[in-house]
Amino acid sequence: LANRATPLDHEQVHIQRGPRSGLPVIVAVHSTTLGQAIGGCRLTTYSRWTDALSDALRLSAAMTDKCAVAGLPNGGGKTVVAIPPGHTLDPAARRAVLLDVADTIAVLDGIYATGPDVGTGPQDMAVIDERTQYVFCRPPEAGGSGDSSTHTATGVVAALHAVCESVFGSPQLAGRRFAILGLGRVGARLARHLAATRAELVVTDIDTSKRSVADELGATWLPPDEALASDVDVLVPAALGGVFTPDTVTRLRCAAIAGPANNQLDAPATAALLHRRGIVWAPDVVVSAGGIIHATAVELHHETSQQAAARVLRIGDTLARVLRDAARAGVTPAAAATNLARQRLQPSTDTTSRE
Ligand code: PHE
Repeated sequence: LANRATPLDHEQVHIQRGPRSGLPVIVAVHSTTLGQAIGGCRLTTYSRWTDALSDALRLSAAMTDKCAVAGLPNGGGKTVVAIPPGHTLDPAARRAVLLDVADTIAVLDGIYATGPDVGTGPQDMAVIDERTQYVFCRPPEAGGSGDSSTHTATGVVAALHAVCESVFGSPQLAGRRFAILGLGRVGARLARHLAATRAELVVTDIDTSKRSVADELGATWLPPDEALASDVDVLVPAALGGVFTPDTVTRLRCAAIAGPANNQLDAPATAALLHRRGIVWAPDVVVSAGGIIHATAVELHHETSQQAAARVLRIGDTLARVLRDAARAGVTPAAAATNLARQRLQPSTDTTSRE
């Protein structure tokens, strides 16, 4: 295996040192088989820019499955800007980075459109819009559909109902125990929603100032390591990827996992480890699609926000189907989600679809 060359799965990968910012700007276009590739712009710290490249490759491939599983006429892509450790971006430097990103996207001429992701938000999308139209989620006053994190959170809640129905026989969240790993824009919203529905909550973040959210909501605050291993019904990963590894899986005490973080597994084989431990893992590509579903419904297909919201809620049905397919076929939910994506990406070779 070691001698076998890794195939290039991606249609295009652009790497450039941004002429204004001097920072590595990476745009990976994984697939346009179903339509324009979409995926957010991640602006975060990496010790080596090649780590950012690996991330961009994995994240853009996941976006292809995310779009396919959600039934969107889009493919997967991702932008990653590698900020060196210890480097902080003042407003002028941030603007320089965003204009560098925008110029790279403009060159792709519509093959790929970006949106917000870890480290970016609607205001940043308005800056990108100065140089290319291929950007989602500008602020409403600038003509976009605005912050996608509320819709991502709504999709996660729909997924949590579906997981609880499948695992515990009731979709009710009240009285269930959840641990939310990460209180960023999506995680904090989820925490508020779950607290309001009278669920029992454990929360954590690597940023200890987020403890105020726990105090405000009456949630139990634990350090990240302990929250991961806490005795809860459902674990909700809402931070960066790679949380589940052969090592962390042995320490889990939850019955199920469903959250918005992208690329939660360190490697595809970890899905089998979770399955063997009897833990139901709701595939991240299914759970986290609320943001792109809402943004494309409103901005590409000109649907009303009610129509878009109804589409986001269907994440619950999609997840229920994936969990059912997995149970029937005796495979992991990850494999069932991949099969569903493949059916849509390669309909001609499909022999298993019942639709
Ligand atoms: N961060 C979003 C995701 O990973 C990306 C996105 C949101 C792209 C909205 C376009 C529009 O799914």
